[in-house]
Amino acid sequence: MPALLCLLPGLALAQAPAPTPTPQRQQQLLRMLQQDCGSCHGMRLTGGLGPPIHAQAMRELPRDSIAAVIYHGRPGTPMPPWKSMLSAAEAEWLAGVLRGEEVKP
Ligand code: HEC
Repeated sequence: MPALLCLLPGLALAQAPAPTPTPQRQQQLLRMLQQDCGSCHGMRLTGGLGPPIHAQAMRELPRDSIAAVIYHGRPGTPMPPWKSMLSAAEAEWLAGVLRGEEVKP
């Protein structure tokens, strides 16, 4: 029942702080941030087709909202949803990385 399992991280997120991804998964997510997100938001996340998403800009937004944009995308704009690529907990972790709250390994 893979579909059911996919729902679990989202449910856990509503109650408890998101679990930190394993170091190996963190590397994958950081690579995705550079390669996939960087293609629209710029190599240094200072903006391109998408707006700047560096720490200075992201600290203006609540971590939950950033995670929601990453997970669901922003309908009607080129910002795609990433929920097929990562879990809600991982989106939450990435949001923390963007805000400079998570130490990059
Ligand atoms: C195809 C281009 C594209 C890709 C790839 C992309 N984005 Fe975006 N993103 C956008 C655009 C365009 C917006 C602005 C949407 C709007 O007009 O509100 C945006 C908005 C955002 C925002 C909200 C910024 C704000 O100031 O409100 C965040 C956070 C974000 N993206 C993170 C990411 C992350 C993390 C990734 C990689 C997992 C990613 N994006 C990949 C195009 C992209």
